[in-house]
Amino acid sequence: MAQVLSLHVFFSAEIHKVGPSKPLKRIHKPRTSLSTRRKGPQSPLRETQKLNLQVSPHRAVSAVRLMRIEMGGAFADLLNDKGKGSGDNEMGYVERTLGFRTKDLDDRDLRLVTDIVGGTIRWRRYLDYLIGSLCHDEKAFRSMEPLLLQILRIGFYEIVKLDMPSYAVVDENVRLAKVSLRPGAGNMVNGILRKLVLLKESNSLPLPKLEGDDRTQARALATLYSHPVWMVRRWTKHLGQEKAIKLMMWNNDNPSFSLRANSGKGVTRADLVMQFNMLKVPHELSLHLDHFVRVKTGLQIVIQAGLLKQGLCAVQDESAGLIVSVVDPQPGDSIIDCCAAPGGKTLYMASQMHGQGMLYAIDINKGRLRIVKETAKLHQVDGVITTIPSDLRTFAESYQLKSDKVLLDAPCSGLGVLSKRADLRWNRRLEDLEELKKLQEELLDAASILVKPGGVLVYSTCSIDPEENEERVDAFLLRHPEFRIDPVDRYVPPDFVTKRGFYSSDPVEHSMDGAFAARLIRTL
Ligand SMILES: C[S@@+](CC[C@H](N)C(=O)[O-])C[C@H]1O[C@@H](n2cnc3c(N)ncnc32)[C@H](O)[C@@H]1O
Repeated sequence: MAQVLSLHVFFSAEIHKVGPSKPLKRIHKPRTSLSTRRKGPQSPLRETQKLNLQVSPHRAVSAVRLMRIEMGGAFADLLNDKGKGSGDNEMGYVERTLGFRTKDLDDRDLRLVTDIVGGTIRWRRYLDYLIGSLCHDEKAFRSMEPLLLQILRIGFYEIVKLDMPSYAVVDENVRLAKVSLRPGAGNMVNGILRKLVLLKESNSLPLPKLEGDDRTQARALATLYSHPVWMVRRWTKHLGQEKAIKLMMWNNDNPSFSLRANSGKGVTRADLVMQFNMLKVPHELSLHLDHFVRVKTGLQIVIQAGLLKQGLCAVQDESAGLIVSVVDPQPGDSIIDCCAAPGGKTLYMASQMHGQGMLYAIDINKGRLRIVKETAKLHQVDGVITTIPSDLRTFAESYQLKSDKVLLDAPCSGLGVLSKRADLRWNRRLEDLEELKKLQEELLDAASILVKPGGVLVYSTCSIDPEENEERVDAFLLRHPEFRIDPVDRYVPPDFVTKRGFYSSDPVEHSMDGAFAARLIRTL
């Protein structure tokens, strides 16, 4: 279960969707339903009949996974060794969707699936621009069946971004299209991929020019760096074009991860480093946090070795760890964590309390809060944690609980964590921000009720957007003159302290996720 938690911590936890997930802009009907084929155990005979050894397993799995992600049925990770994203499960989806299984995925295939799926999603807008330009007409592209489109996106990504040998990419993707769709589809893939190879070799890929007015330039940048136009416009306005481009490049790069040694269980960073050395996982010590180690590649190996499952460490970004530094948990403290699930910060704070004090973990989502409880047990920090399933807004009005330290890690757009959540950029809409800002204000008002006079309220997000960060704090201070800003320079390195005394991590400057925190003292 700890593993589940740890994975959620970096893939989905930091971002809380408000309201039901939004419909996808362009939903194609799959030729084969994702769920209609037979489920349940297979007879060995049927399995053999359906086994296709000619199709490359990682491409078949990637294509099906991409279709599921686009339809909202899967996340863009494949890091857990059992459960949702495991090789076994994936092959089940392949069989139900394509009508056959392939050779089982080995470790290399799993890595390729992660790379291809993540990269194809990130570069979707750019890849679609190229595919659209190479189709004989716009309509052919717009009405393309979903599986065919995913196969083409994979082929384009492999050739243009992974620089894989083009003859193999063409052959393999043509075969996949022929076997899973029909010979004509294979011919079409063949024609378009060959055109692409020729254009790439002559260095003449069709790309939009960065010229014209702001709007036209934003559209060109959105295609060149594969982001929604509204994000490009917003970042160009807030950060300038050069930094906006750097941010998009960061978001498109393979993410690196940090692991936190679980001191609650007596594990030190040196212990973790020893394990990584044994597993031959390249790593670097965090420059900012004593318990953290960075890994660029090899997280899959750490997971498969069971280090997360045993509760020896947790996947946690340094930017989130630094928010805990802003709270500054100490043994004997009474702390309220207002939006706690799935518990990344709760567990880290609890591990710093050395079994003394109490940490109340509130969250509206009962299921996610149950994960906090179970993982706290595994991490041996459950002695100081009380979980409270509740809507913070009603809880604050109805109960008398008050503390010296209150953390509100608010639901937010997640614009600071786009490198880890490959698909998030395509699911977020500009209108979400309005909804989120309203919720953030309501939760801030509620959290403020829980702070004792002289106590501290930490407001944090994993967003880099001023409207969710500084502007929410300013609006709060206008509504609550009994609070004042407590500069965070005593708690985090100077590099992370803004002019106004807030904590801010910047993906481009600090090579970690973007996050924000304000420390506010209640004076009355
Ligand atoms: C950004 S996540 C918190 C991540 C968590 N602090 C961590 O470090 O793992 C935001 C959380 O706010 C919770 N939430 C949203 N609305 C809430 C409400 N009205 N009351 C309490 N929790 C709420 C969501 O369920 C979600 O778990």
